[in-house]
Amino acid sequence: MSIKSVLVIGSGLMGSGIAQVCAQSGIAVMLHDASSSALEKAQKNIAWSVGKFAEKGKLTEDKDTILNRITFVERIDPGPEPRIKPDLAIEAVFEKLEIKHDIFKKLDECCGPDTLIASNTSAIPITELAAVTSRPEKVLGLHFFSPVPMMMAVEVIKGMLTTDATAQIGRAFVEQIGKTPIMVNRDVAGFVINRINMPSSMEAMRLVEEGVASIEDIDKGLKLASGRKMGIFETGDMVGLDVTYGALMAMYQETGDPRWYPPLLLRRKVKAGHLGRKTGKGWYDYTQDD
Ligand SMILES: NC(=O)c1ccc[n+]([C@@H]2O[C@H](COP(=O)([O-])OP(=O)(O)OC[C@H]3O[C@@H](n4cnc5c(N)ncnc54)[C@H](O)[C@@H]3O)[C@@H](O)[C@H]2O)c1
Repeated sequence: MSIKSVLVIGSGLMGSGIAQVCAQSGIAVMLHDASSSALEKAQKNIAWSVGKFAEKGKLTEDKDTILNRITFVERIDPGPEPRIKPDLAIEAVFEKLEIKHDIFKKLDECCGPDTLIASNTSAIPITELAAVTSRPEKVLGLHFFSPVPMMMAVEVIKGMLTTDATAQIGRAFVEQIGKTPIMVNRDVAGFVINRINMPSSMEAMRLVEEGVASIEDIDKGLKLASGRKMGIFETGDMVGLDVTYGALMAMYQETGDPRWYPPLLLRRKVKAGHLGRKTGKGWYDYTQDD
């Protein structure tokens, strides 16, 4: 089954990227956010990013055809009948269980019975999100990486009650949008890529905390020694320190394992509102940038 229409909830960094790659693949998209300013920002960012693809000659259609596939909506209230019937709904709101639970309940009420519901969560178990719906067999994880238009991998995660058929539709959808599925067979906190990457990010934060090396030198060293395109702190600023914090807390709460407890420096920066590029300051200072 090919996916023809997608509802994306949350138009931040990830949701806007997901909406864009779907539209670029010919899929009709409804992009919803609770904040009208977030929707406006998403509209501008998507137009800019699709424009860049067009300039580089990477599109087979004109820019406006792609942009016209996206409808920006401020409300998705449940009605007496399911009001919207996308083939797939993808949730990409803040990494907080209560907020995601509210969205999953709403999606279950708003969407037709055949709609698959996915989460882009970084670390919250899919089974826990599926539990508040009447269709846990149709709930899955689709974990994109940022920046979504550039990063090719998407983890496809099975919750405990997700059927093979749902996971296979997830796999086919990822291929349909030109990306590579990484199948995650068991619903463990952090899935696969974050389980591997988070320990090195946390170690880098602790080395800075202990005064062993500077943020700049760690990033420089990692790029020159490991062939990374971006340093660990540069990536952290793009992802958002609050997003990393939320993912680590979800992994810590799920496992009870202290190795996932966020380092002090990360906790303090999040409290100080230094969340990365989106707030102008994070590991680096962007306030002087154009
Ligand atoms: N940032 C990354 O690199 C990254 C990578 C992979 C996965 N994720 C995950 O993706 C999700 C979104 O992350 P992000 O970086 O895009 O966050 P973000 O802060 O950029 O955007 C979140 C958006 O959700 C909206 N929102 C919040 N509550 C809402 C609600 N109740 N209804 C509708 N909209 C609501 C906000 O207005 C905001 O625009 C998180 O679960 C995060 O863990 C993030």
